Formats: sequence, structure tokens, C-alpha cells
Amino acid sequence: MGNAEALLKRRKQWVPDAIGIFNPSTAVSGNGSMLIDADGHEMIDFAGGIGVVNAGHCPPPVVKAIQAQAEKLIHCSFNVATYEVYVQLAERLARLFPHGDHTKVMLTNSGAESIENAIKIARQATGRPAIICYEQGFHGRTMMAMTLTSKVGYKLGCGPFAPEVYRIPFPDHYHDGKGQSLEEFSAGQLRELELFFQRQVPVEQVAAILMEPVQGEGGFNVAPPDYLKGLREICTKYGILLILDEVQSGFGRTGKWAAYQHFGVVPDLSTWAKSLGSGMPIGAVIGKASIMDACKPSTIGGTYPGNPVCCAAALATLDYMEEIDINTKGQRVGHTVRERFNAWQKRFPAIGDVRGLGAMMAFELVKNGDPFQPDADLCKRLIAWCAGRGLIIINAGIQGNVIRILSPLVIEAETLAKGLDIIEQGLTEIIGS
Ligand SMILES: Cc1ncc(COP(=O)(O)O)c(C=O)c1O
Repeated sequence: MGNAEALLKRRKQWVPDAIGIFNPSTAVSGNGSMLIDADGHEMIDFAGGIGVVNAGHCPPPVVKAIQAQAEKLIHCSFNVATYEVYVQLAERLARLFPHGDHTKVMLTNSGAESIENAIKIARQATGRPAIICYEQGFHGRTMMAMTLTSKVGYKLGCGPFAPEVYRIPFPDHYHDGKGQSLEEFSAGQLRELELFFQRQVPVEQVAAILMEPVQGEGGFNVAPPDYLKGLREICTKYGILLILDEVQSGFGRTGKWAAYQHFGVVPDLSTWAKSLGSGMPIGAVIGKASIMDACKPSTIGGTYPGNPVCCAAALATLDYMEEIDINTKGQRVGHTVRERFNAWQKRFPAIGDVRGLGAMMAFELVKNGDPFQPDADLCKRLIAWCAGRGLIIINAGIQGNVIRILSPLVIEAETLAKGLDIIEQGLTEIIGS
């Protein structure tokens, strides 16, 4: 038995089965866009720790910053003693993502925790209870975040869920467009939202609308630009806070620091995590100062959020991302991947849709060219085929039939091409057989 097989066997014995296995690979070390598995094989990583290592695995300046901070102060809790790296990171994020004239930042440990806190802040700031979220949305696995999540398979038996959460369809043009132009479709979806306020929940009770500008787990569905602009106007008109979840789409993934920057909208609150800390557990809620300061004392915070070592990792990550121009890298990776995916769509009828923004690219596998006949089995076979040939990829989508690319953005052109070649061979072989 090889080391990888033995490790997976021990996992099976000691770790609950319910913790998902998205890919059968193992990992011992990582560098840039490569992982080394338990048997010493090199693996090209197109999953990037689920969008966490945009700046690559173990970027040397980040490793150094973690080591230096760990020697100075690992923890004292920001509630107990104020330390500079927290304040420095808050200032840095506020300057990078201004939400109006004065922006404030609270740090968290994860994406789900950012969501939990954004909801608490929105409710306190507006004095309203209701939250509107989207079908196919994913916001994490804590109780409120899970309530806000759409994928029912992730929620089985975990309820009852939190009250005052309302769900509306995501403007999903590929599945629901019915031949309309993107503009017509967006206008129709916004009209439906206005009707929703009359049929489901009065606008005076809605604290916030929460949306991923590009849905991650839901299958890389990009919000139509007119829809997001119209949504911003509706929120402003009714005093509803617009919360944009950038946990997966942030930090260069779409070719900009924030996906919302593609749309010319600014949210009232935004949520962050993943690539901020290059793998160290850190997230953030960013918001207008007047909204953030509407919270009562001690209703937000915790023992660990903004841990000094995580803050140091985040500051070093942001420095490194600026130095290497992460956004240009995101645009380049996205361009290469989109070109290949578009070419494959012409060749393989199983690819029903190619979509994404920047380097947040995906293709959807369907039967008979029908958007409503998902082919999750083909998706699974392709992932396993690639894992056996040195490439880690993962799926997405409510039906699990979307292949998504979340490779580190520092990936070299040849490595990216090699990984894409493996997927192409896999499609040829599996579909061909
Ligand atoms: C958009 C989005 N929000 C929230 C989360 C939850 O983040 P975490 O897993 O760090 O709790 C995720 C995780 O995939 C995500 O993609």
C-alpha cells in the first residue's frame, strides 16, 4: 500500500465521512501552483485550496512574515490588548476597498464568520429583521451562513434554520434566460424583486440583500451587470443594505481586487476571507463606518479574530500581491482558460456552457446539450481521471456538474497549459469511450 492510500485509510478510520472529499488526492507540501502528494508525486493544483492561494502555495514573503510574527506575539486577543498588525490590516483593507467616505473593518476567522457578523451588523444598523439571499448561493456552514446557503444537500438534517431569511432566484441567464437578451432578462428579474416586496416580505422589514457577484460553489454564475446596478439602486431607494460576498471572488481572482469593481457598484457591507491570508484563517467584514458603528458594544468580535500571526500573513500577502500585480496575473490566467474552454465547447457537446469572470472560469457538463440535464457523473469521472494524471480539479454547482478553475494566479504559462491539456485529454478519452 502506498503512503497516499494508507493516509486515506487512516482518514476513513478517524475522521467523519461527512467531511467532504472533493478530490481523491493527498498533499504533503506546496510551492507556487504545485503540490507534492504523500507518494512524492507532483500535482498541478487547479483547486488552490478552494480559492485560498491566489498568491500561490507558501509564498516566501508570507512564510517569513508568519515566522517573524510568531516569534514576537502569537495571541493576546484584540479585546484584551490592542496590537498594531490588526489596526494596520484594517486600515489597509479600508483603503483598498472604500465603502463611501469613511470605511471601517472588523476581522474574522473565516468566510462563514464574516457572513454571520455582516448579518448582525446589518440588522443592528437598520433595526430590521429580514435578509434576502439567492438560490444557488453559498455562504458557509455555521448556522446562519448555512441558512443563507441554497444547496439543500449541504443542509440535510441540520435544521431548523434561522428565521427571517428569504430566498429569490439568482439571475441565471444560462438556465432561465429563455432566449431573452441579458438586458431584458435583468430588467425582468428586477421587476420580480419589486413584486417580491409586495408578495413575500414588506420592504420596511428588509435589513439587507446578500449576494455573491460571482457565485462560487453555485457554479461560477456571474451576476448580469445591469442586474447588479439595478439592485444597488433598489437597495438605496428602500434603505436596504447591499452586502456583497467576495469570499471566493476577491483578491485578484476575477482580475480585480474585488469582483464588484467590474460592475461599478459599491456595497454597504462586504465579506472576505480565503486568499486574504494565503491559507491562514482570516476574514473581514468591510463597511461604511456609520453602519459598522451602529452595533452595540461587544455584539461582534471574539477570542481569535484578527490573530496577530494571521494579520501578519494577510499584510504580507497583500504586499506580495501588489508587488507581483496579482490582478494582471488574474486577467492573463482567465484569458488563457477562457480561450481553451471556448474551443472545447465547440468540440465537446457535453460542455453546455462556458462562463466566469477573469480567472474565475468554469464549464458546465450536460447531456444532450440541455441545460436541465446535468451530467454530474461525467464531472466526477473527469476529476478522478485528472487526479490520476497529476492534476487536481474540483467541481461546483447545485447539481455538481460544473468544473471550476481556482488555480493559484502565480501559475506559470507552461504549467497552466499542461493542466489544461490534461483536462482536454480526459474529456477526449472519457467522452470518446
Ligand atoms: C462565497 C463564499 N462565502 C462564504 C464561504 C464560507 O467560507 P469559509 O469556508 O471560510 O467559512 C465560502 C466558502 O467557500 C464562499 O465561497
